[in-house]
This record gives sequence, C-alpha cells and structure tokens, in this order.
Amino acid sequence: MKTCKRASAFFRSLCRFSLLHRSMSWSPRQIRCWKGPESSDSLSDCPRVLITGGLGQLGIGLAQMLRQQYGRENVILSDIKKPPAEVLDMGPFVYADVLDYKNLRELVVNNGITWLVHYSAMLSAVGETNVQLSRAINITGLHNVLDLALDNSMRLFVPSTIGAFGPSSPRDPAPDLCIQRPRTIYGVSKVHAELMGEYLHHKYGLDFRCLRYPGVISAYTHPGGGTTDYAVQIFHDALSTGHHECYLHPKTRLPMMHISDCHRATVEFMQAPECQLYLRTYNIAAISFTPEEVVEEIRKHLPHLRVTYKPDPIRQNIADSWPMRFDDSNARRDWGWEPAFGLPELVTDMLSHHRNRRASVDLGVS
Ligand SMILES: NC(=O)c1ccc[n+]([C@@H]2O[C@H](COP(=O)([O-])OP(=O)(O)OC[C@H]3O[C@@H](n4cnc5c(N)ncnc54)[C@H](O)[C@@H]3O)[C@@H](O)[C@H]2O)c1
Repeated sequence: MKTCKRASAFFRSLCRFSLLHRSMSWSPRQIRCWKGPESSDSLSDCPRVLITGGLGQLGIGLAQMLRQQYGRENVILSDIKKPPAEVLDMGPFVYADVLDYKNLRELVVNNGITWLVHYSAMLSAVGETNVQLSRAINITGLHNVLDLALDNSMRLFVPSTIGAFGPSSPRDPAPDLCIQRPRTIYGVSKVHAELMGEYLHHKYGLDFRCLRYPGVISAYTHPGGGTTDYAVQIFHDALSTGHHECYLHPKTRLPMMHISDCHRATVEFMQAPECQLYLRTYNIAAISFTPEEVVEEIRKHLPHLRVTYKPDPIRQNIADSWPMRFDDSNARRDWGWEPAFGLPELVTDMLSHHRNRRASVDLGVS
C-alpha cells in the first residue's frame, strides 16, 4: 500500500511538472493533466460517476451496482433517449449527447464528476449499416470524453470488445497483446479508443481503464445490435414461441459473459489501485460457447425448443473474424478477476428471470 501511495505521489508531481511546461497557452479543449488534491485517488472512497449511453443493454444495471456502493445520488445516468419511468425512479438521469462537448463539460463541472463511464456506442452489426454515424458516435464522441477526462482529472472507463480483434489475430485464445486488424467500423473505433486512452495515459497520466467485454447476456434489457445478440434473443424465444431462428452457424464459438459478471468486473476494475494495473486494456473472459452448445443446455430445461439456422452473411462474417476464446490471465493476476457464471448457471438464471417476468405480466410459457 505504501509503495502504491509513493508511486502515486511521484506520478502526480510528474504530471504537475509536465503541466508547467505546457501551460504557456491553452484553451479549454487543449490536452492537459492536473492531478490536484481532488485526484481520483483521494476520491476513490466516494466517486461521483457519470455514465454516457446509459439506457442501452449495460448502463442501467451498472448504475444500480454502483449506486449500491456509492449512494443513489452519486451515480448519474445519461443518454439521448427518454428514460422509462422506472429508470427515473432509480436515481438521477440527464440528457447528454456525447457529440455535444459543451453540454458534457457543463454536466461534469456542475456535478463534480470524478469517474466517467463511457458506454455510448453504435455496436458491430448496426454500425455496418451506417458507417458515418458509427464513426461520429464511436470516434468523435470518444475524443470528447477523452478531452473531458483529461481536463477534469477524471478516471475514465471505456469498454472495448472481442470485436477489436480481426481475422489475423490469434483466435483461440486471443491474448491481451497481439495483432489487431478488425474489419468493422465498430472494431476499428474500439482499437482507436484503446490506443488513444493508453497514449494519453502514458503521455499525460490520464487514468484510462478499458476492459474488452465478451458478448454480454442479460435478461433485463434488449440487445443493441451486436453480433452476439442471438445468445440473448434465444431465451426470449424459448419461453415465448418455443422457436428460435439463429443468424449464426451452429458451430460458431464466441466468448460470452453473464451481465452481472460484466458489471462486477467493471466495478472491481474501476476500484483497483492504479499501482496494480500493469496494463490499461484487459481481456475479461467467462464462458465460450457455440449456438449448438447453448441450445443443448436450454433443452435440459425446455426439451421442446426448436432451433433453425439461417446464417446472416454480415453477422456470420463478423463472428468468423472474432476470437473464439479470450485469454484473461493478466486480469486474473493483476486485479483478481474471476467470473461467477458458467454455462449451466447462466442458462438457469436467464430462464428463471424470463419465467418470472412472463408470470408477472400474465404471459404463458411455451
Ligand atoms: N452489450 C455487449 O455485449 C457489449 C460487448 C462488448 C462491449 N460492449 C460495449 O459496452 C458499451 C455499452 O454497450 P450496450 O450493449 O449497452 O450498448 P447499446 O447499443 O445497448 O447502448 C448504447 C447507448 O448509446 C446511446 N447513444 C447513441 N448515440 C449517442 C450519443 N450521440 N450520445 C449519447 N448516447 C448515445 C444509445 O441511445 C444507447 O442507449 C458500448 O460501448 C459497447 O461497445 C458491449
């Protein structure tokens, strides 16, 4: 712990030194680093968190987990969509477009934000249908939050993905450091995010943290247009119509993770002391399965589930270029990452959530 504090004090003095050398002229958008008394270290006991793109598949659950630890008012969800009433009841929500730098800055300053979780994005499959918009949200939006995080000494979390790898990457397993030549605008923008964040960390001391999430499986929210969405949709279909048409080949293996593992990994990683982080971008893994394998597991509970396969060329192409498994040994070693859900636990949990939800609104189960 002492080493950690000493390293962090040394680091802060380096940052101040570099600030002096760059402070001859600056504008609010110019990159700078000021780790003053309110640095993220000293505030790590009770951060003030802003989540961008928070109304998608992942944001609401993460906000709930953070609120349990840091208090309802200390975690602000934001998005460009109108939130449902139950989300408003859970805690603070504000409108924030990541393309509007001035508005974002106002939010950060007025609310004393110390941790920024940057979730807004256009995911892999939808990104390919509108490359320009995807580039704007995923790259211009990222630049805005990077500038803001530096200007305001925030700890910045940006998720990356299995989509940050490409056909020339090692696929089974993909390690943290290897060739990354993705072939989607989504993947390209995520590699850009990883590299920009790490560059600003090494050059100016930005406390940038990035996890490469596998496909995330959640019972509470609908998927946002990714290539792993079938693994969420299949549970809805299994209990409603009893039939799922899968857009991937039955043997397409991809890394996946239960949403509560994903949220816990994010919170634990954000809480990890800086001195434990030998990398700034880590793979995290939990399970890796094919459509065929998840169907077999679901059939243990619902033997009549019928699945047909109609591979969609866009999504199949994307999936075939992604890792089949993630090597997450660095995350396990450096900050103690360990998943809780294997495939049987994930299937049992998803089915029980969907059953309860359907029962609560008087819908039958096929
Ligand atoms: N869900 C997964 O399986 C998965 C896997 C790997 C990585 N990730 C990453 O995690 C993050 C969250 O993923 P998700 O599944 O919740 O995504 P999602 O697509 O469900 O949600 C993204 C949100 O961003 C919002 N958004 C779009 N444009 C915006 C703008 N201009 N300003 C502000 N918000 C805007 C959307 O309204 C949406 O609510 C993303 O960065 C994604 O790349 C997700």
